[in-house]
Amino acid sequence: MVNKTIIVSNRLPVKIVEENGEYILSPSEGGLATGLGSVYKKGHNIWVGWPGIEVPEHRQQEVTEKLAALNLIPVFLTPDEINLYYEGFSNEVLWPVFHYMVTYAHFEQTYWDFYQSVNAKFKNVVISHLNKGDTVWVHDYQLLLLPELIRSFQPQVTIGFFQHIPFPSYEMFRLIPWREELISGMFGADLLGFHTFDDVRHFLSAASHLSTAKVSNNVITYKDRQIVVEAFPMGIDAAKFENLTHDPLVAEHVLSLKETMHGCKVILTIDRLDYSKGILQRLQAYELLLESHPEYIEQLSLYMIVVPSRDTVAQYKELKDQIDQLVGNINAHFRTLNWLPVHYFYRSFPVEFLSALYSTADICLVTPMRDGMNLVSKEYIASRADQTGVLILSEMAGASKELNDALIVNPNNIGEVMRAIVEAINMPVQEQKTRMSVLRGIVRKFDIHLWVKNFMDKLEEVKNMQESLLTKYAAAEVKEQIGIAYRKAADRYIFLDYDGTLVGFNGDIDKAAPDEELYQILQQLTADPGNQVVIVSGRRHQTLEAWFGHLKLGLIAEHGAWQKHDGQEWKSLPLLTDKWKQEIKTVLDSYTDRTPGSFTEDKSYSLVWHYRKAEEGLGELRANEIVNHLEATVADHGLQMMPGNKVIEFKNIEVNKGKATLAWLHDHHPDFIIALGDDHTDEDIFKALKPEDYTIKVGSNLSAARYYLRNFMEVREFLKTLSEIA
Ligand code: UDP
Ligand code: G6P
Repeated sequence: MVNKTIIVSNRLPVKIVEENGEYILSPSEGGLATGLGSVYKKGHNIWVGWPGIEVPEHRQQEVTEKLAALNLIPVFLTPDEINLYYEGFSNEVLWPVFHYMVTYAHFEQTYWDFYQSVNAKFKNVVISHLNKGDTVWVHDYQLLLLPELIRSFQPQVTIGFFQHIPFPSYEMFRLIPWREELISGMFGADLLGFHTFDDVRHFLSAASHLSTAKVSNNVITYKDRQIVVEAFPMGIDAAKFENLTHDPLVAEHVLSLKETMHGCKVILTIDRLDYSKGILQRLQAYELLLESHPEYIEQLSLYMIVVPSRDTVAQYKELKDQIDQLVGNINAHFRTLNWLPVHYFYRSFPVEFLSALYSTADICLVTPMRDGMNLVSKEYIASRADQTGVLILSEMAGASKELNDALIVNPNNIGEVMRAIVEAINMPVQEQKTRMSVLRGIVRKFDIHLWVKNFMDKLEEVKNMQESLLTKYAAAEVKEQIGIAYRKAADRYIFLDYDGTLVGFNGDIDKAAPDEELYQILQQLTADPGNQVVIVSGRRHQTLEAWFGHLKLGLIAEHGAWQKHDGQEWKSLPLLTDKWKQEIKTVLDSYTDRTPGSFTEDKSYSLVWHYRKAEEGLGELRANEIVNHLEATVADHGLQMMPGNKVIEFKNIEVNKGKATLAWLHDHHPDFIIALGDDHTDEDIFKALKPEDYTIKVGSNLSAARYYLRNFMEVREFLKTLSEIA
C-alpha cells in the first residue's frame, strides 16, 4: 500500500454552497485554504475537513461523492456543533485569546464540551482512513486536541501540527480554563510548527509552565517521546500569482479597473471580516489623511475588499455594522460628484479579479492588529511583475518578520499609518523597485512548496531522531536477560552514578544522602567477590568519602578528577590545574547575587552553578547569560562548560566520566560490565563502553544507553534482584 498524507483542518479548501437546491463547490477563503489548496493534491493524499455548511443527513452521501472526486473527505457538523465548537470555542475563545483580544472571549463550559466532542468526531473520520505508514498533518487552532486523540489510537503514527494563527504569550494563554488540556492535546504531535519564532517561544513557555514535560531548547520530552517545536513561516504559491499576471482574463479586468480609477492612486486592502485585521483603525488613518492632506482629495482611492466571515458570531456582526457606518461617513463627508474616496466591497472575488486588483494597486495597505502570517501581503508582492508598488505592513503580522523592506507600521498608531501612506504615495519609482525586488526575491524563494518541503523534511527528521534515541525500557525480559549474563560471569564491573540514579533528585544537594536501604543494597552487591562496584559521581571526593568511604567500593569523584580504589588513598588526575577557578567563580558569584535560589558549588577541579531552586524561567535565563558571558574565558583556559539538569558545570576538558570509566577498566577484561546513570555526564560512560556492555539510562529514553529505567526506585529494585542472584 502506498503511504499517504492525511491533511486535516476544520475547513476544507472548497466549500459547499447551495444554489436553487443544488450543491455546488466553490473555493474557501482564508490563508489556510488558499495556501495549501494548491499543494495537497499529490499522490494518494487526502484532506479531511468540514464542507462549510450544514448538510442534512439524506444528502450527505451525495456531498461525500462530490468531494471524493477531489480527494476531499467531509466531516459533517450539526447546527449545535457549528454553533458551539466552531463559532463558540474556536472563534469566541481561542481566536480572541490567541489574537490578544481577550475581552472578546467567552469561556463557556458547553463550548468546551463541544470542542472536545467535535475533535473526537474528526478523530473518528481520520482513523477510518488511516493506514500504517501514513502521515497525519493537522492544521490550526480548531483542532488542538486532535493530535493526542489520534496518537492514543495509534501510538507510532507520524503526526505534524501547524498553527496558522499566533500563539500568545503565556500570560494570555493561561487565562483559558482548559489550558492544560489544550497543551496535552498538541503534545500528541511529533512536530509542532508556528509561523514565527515568537510563537515558538510563547508555546515553549506555556508548555513548560503547564505540563510536567521536560523542555530543552526546542525539544520537549513528554511521556518518553520527543516533540520538536519550530518556526516555518508560510509562503504562497508565488508562481501561480506571477503567472496570473499574464492571464488574458486578468488583463481584461486590469483594463476595466483602470477605467474606473480615473487616474487616481489606488490603495488596496483585502481582508476577511475580522476584528484582528484592524479594518476600522485603517479607515481612521485614511480619514485622517483626507482631513489633514486635502490636496489628495480626488487623487486617491481606497479599494477595500472585506470578505464575509463568521458573521454569525456577535462581534463580527457588530464589526460589520461599524465598518459600514465608517465607510458611509467617509464617503458622505469627502466624496465629490466625480470621485468616491472608498470603494467598499463586502464579498469575495475569484482569484483572477484579486490578481487584477493586486496588479493595479499602487499601494497595498495591510495593517492587522495581530495576524499569524498574512498571505495577502505576499500575494501583492508576487503580483507586482514590474517591481513597482509599495507594501505598508503591520509589525503585528507574522509576515513583517520576513518582509523588512515593506514600510513597517504599528497599526495602533493612526498618525504613523497615515504618514506611511503619504510616504508611499510619494515614493520615487526607483526606491519602489529596489524594495520590491528584495521582497519578490523572498516571496519567490520561500514559497508554499518550500514551506511544505521544509515541514515534511523536518517531520521525517524528528521521526528518525525519535527512533535513534529510542532506548528500550528495561522491562522484565530485559532484566531477566541481564540477570542470566550476570549469573554466568565471574568478573563483573558495576558502574553507578549517584544523584538521580541511586537516590532521588533533591533541591538541597546535602539532603540527598544515602539511606539505609541503599547501604544494604550496596553492601549486598559488594559482598559478592566477583563484583567490583564503582560509584561514578560528579560530587566532591570529600562527600563520597564521608558517605561511602567505609564500604568496599571503588569511588570516582568530580567526574573523574579524583579516584579511590578500595582500600587505597584518593588520587587526583595528574597535571590538572585549578588556576582558572577564581576568575570564573567571580563571575558566577555575581550571577548568584542576582538570582535568588542559585548557588555556586566549588570542587577541586570544577565549579558548578546550581539553579534548581531559582524561579522557573529565571534560572534558565541566567544560565544562558552565563554561557554567553563565559564562552571566551572557557576557551582560553581549555575548559569545558556543560549545561545540565538545572546546573552549569565548568571543568577541565580532560575530566569526564567516560574517560574515568575507561581508565578504571584499563588492562582489565571483565566478562560483565554494566553502567547506570541519569544525566548527560553519564552519556560519556554509555558512549565509552562497548555496544555489548549493559548501559541503562535512568529517567528518560533519550540516550545513547541500551535500556532505560524510569526512576531511582526501579534502579534499586533492579540492583536488589542482581545482588540476590547466586
Ligand atoms: N481571499 C480569497 N477571496 C477573496 C479575498 C481573499 O480567497 O475574495 C484569500 C486571499 O487571496 C488570501 C486569503 O484569502 O490568500 C487570506 O489569507 P490571509 O493569510 O491574508 O488572512 P486569513 O484570512 O488567513 O486571516
Ligand atoms: C484563518 C484561520 C483558518 C480559517 C480561516 C478562515 O486563516 O487560520 O483556520 O480557516 O481564517 O476562517 P473560517 O472561520 O471561515 O474557516
